[in-house]
Amino acid sequence: MMPVPTVVANWKMNTTIHEATRLAVGIRDGLGSVSGPEVILCPPFISLQAVRDAVLGSQIKVGAQNMYSEASGAFTGEVSPAMLRELCDYVILGHSERRQLFGDNDDLVNLKVKAAFEHGLRPILCVGESLEQRDAGRAGAAVAQQLRTGLAGVVDITGLLVAYEPVWAIGTGRAATPEIAAEIMGGTIQGSLNALFGDAAAQVPLLYGGSVNPDNVAGFAAQECIHGALVGGASLQADQFLEIARLTARAKG
Ligand code: 13P
Repeated sequence: MMPVPTVVANWKMNTTIHEATRLAVGIRDGLGSVSGPEVILCPPFISLQAVRDAVLGSQIKVGAQNMYSEASGAFTGEVSPAMLRELCDYVILGHSERRQLFGDNDDLVNLKVKAAFEHGLRPILCVGESLEQRDAGRAGAAVAQQLRTGLAGVVDITGLLVAYEPVWAIGTGRAATPEIAAEIMGGTIQGSLNALFGDAAAQVPLLYGGSVNPDNVAGFAAQECIHGALVGGASLQADQFLEIARLTARAKG
């Protein structure tokens, strides 16, 4: 069976609690008629409760954008997997902004991935090469390395999602082409997962992220090896995100 088509909204450091609630309600109400894809909203931590309440009883799921790897303790300013577990089902880990700006290296991402599994959270593990790595012909190697290290010591990948977000395509308006994405996703990522985890790898949804919008999403979703999208900017507008969900459902239906 094909992995479940999935669209994830990463609101990043945008929306107040009030704005997040309104956006979630807009997406919830608009989604009524769309059947098919799993829809996951990832607001800032402080809006998790409000967004969870807003989508309660709907098909929409909620995720966090990050977390720390320890269950509790003297880690000022951090949020633990145990705390998140009461609020949401998913957590984005290893996003390139975390890697670039906040020092989340592969080893820390690995600790976080393992902690997520231990606490029953579904990790959305983000990987992707920089422009420098792509230009040097090392895109595949960089992504394979991130996957290998990020998943080191993980035995059971049930619940895992992997997002391919080439750094040069994030927030730049310069999306990868479906062919470039498919080369890495169907080749490097699926190949690495198959080699590491065998049959279980076939159930992992692979999401493309980086300047996804209603105009380009169908091209990505038409690729057999792409099961959905991780959406930043366009997920801040309910109508755009809903259109992305609809087009993904249609392509994958
Ligand atoms: P944009 O869709 O704004 O390029 O962001 C992509 C992203 O980083 C989603 O996690």
